[in-house]
Amino acid sequence: MPSSQGHKPMRVLISEPLTPRVRRIVLEGSVGAAPGQYIMAWVPKVGEIPLGVAMDGRETWLLVAKVGKVSSAIHSLTKGDYLWVRGPYGKGFTVPSEGKVALVGGGYGIAPLIHLAHSLRESDVKIRFYAGFRTREEVMLEGLLQDLSDKVIISTDDGSYGLKGLVTDYVNYEWPNFIFTAGPELMMVRVVNEAARRGKEVEASLERLIRCAVGICGACALDPLGLLVCRDGPVFNGRLLLRTKDFGKYWKDFYGRKVPLSTKR
Ligand SMILES: Cc1cc2nc3c(=O)[nH]c(=O)nc-3n(C[C@H](O)[C@H](O)[C@H](O)COP(=O)(O)OP(=O)(O)OC[C@H]3O[C@@H](n4cnc5c(N)ncnc54)[C@H](O)[C@@H]3O)c2cc1C
Ligand code: FES
Repeated sequence: MPSSQGHKPMRVLISEPLTPRVRRIVLEGSVGAAPGQYIMAWVPKVGEIPLGVAMDGRETWLLVAKVGKVSSAIHSLTKGDYLWVRGPYGKGFTVPSEGKVALVGGGYGIAPLIHLAHSLRESDVKIRFYAGFRTREEVMLEGLLQDLSDKVIISTDDGSYGLKGLVTDYVNYEWPNFIFTAGPELMMVRVVNEAARRGKEVEASLERLIRCAVGICGACALDPLGLLVCRDGPVFNGRLLLRTKDFGKYWKDFYGRKVPLSTKR
C-alpha cells in the first residue's frame, strides 16, 4: 500500500448509517486530536477531504455526510477496509475547566461538539447541548447527546421532531459562560452575533476548502485578515470572525474564486 504525505492507514471497525445522508465511521485507534481539530482523510485514487473528529480515544469516530466523490467513497468503506489519515491539524476549542457551556450545533456539525462534550465529562463543567436538524430523519445520536450533557434541546426546521424551527431561537444566551458552535455557517453567524452582543465568550468552527492543511496553498484564507482556516482555525474566536468580510458571506471555490456562501452546498 502506498504511504503518501505521512498518511497512516486506519482500519474501519464500524460503518453505519445515522441518517439517510450521514454515516458514523469508527476507526481503530486514536488520531490524537484535541476537540475541534480535524484530520485529512484520503481514499487512494479518489481524493482527500478534511473531516472533524467526533470522538478520539481507543477508537476514532467520524460523522461523514455524503456530498461528492470522496465522501461517497468513504461511505462505501466496510468493516476491515482502511482509510488513510493525516493529521490532526489546526486549532481546536478552548476547553474550559469550570463554568457553564452551551454547545450549539447543526447536522453533522455536532461532531466536534460531541468530542468537546466528551472531554468535559470528567470536569465540573455544566453542559447544555442545542442540536438543530432539518427533519426528523436527520436527527442523530440523541442518546449520546443525553449521556454527555446536563440538558439537550433538539429542534427540527419543520417541527417533525423536537422543537419547531431554528435551534438558535431556543438558545438561552444568558445562562452559559462559554458558547461553542459548529454547523451551517449562517447558524453560527446568528450564535456569534447574539453571544457577542451579550459579552459572552464564543468560538465557532469554520469550513472552507482545505487542500494542503498546513498553511501553504492559501485556499482557505479569510479576507481581509488573511486568517487561514486550516492552520489558524478551524475554530476561531467569534469576535475575530466578525472582523472578517467572509464570515457568513463568502468562501473560495476550487479555482480560488471568491463566491457567495449560498453556492457552497
Ligand atoms: C475543517 C473541516 C471539517 C469538516 N468536517 C466534516 C465532518 O465532520 N463531516 C463531514 O461530513 N464533512 C465535514 N467537512 C466538509 C467536507 O470536507 C466536505 O463535505 C468534503 O470535502 C466534500 O468532498 P467530496 O469529495 O465528497 O465532494 P466534492 O465532489 O469535492 O464536492 C461536492 C460539493 O461539496 C462542497 N465541498 C467540497 N469540498 C469542501 C470542503 N473542503 N469544505 C466544504 N465544502 C466542500 C462543494 O460545494 C462542492 O460543490 C469539513 C470541512 C472542513 C473544512
Ligand atoms: S488549505 Fe492550504 S493554506 Fe489552508
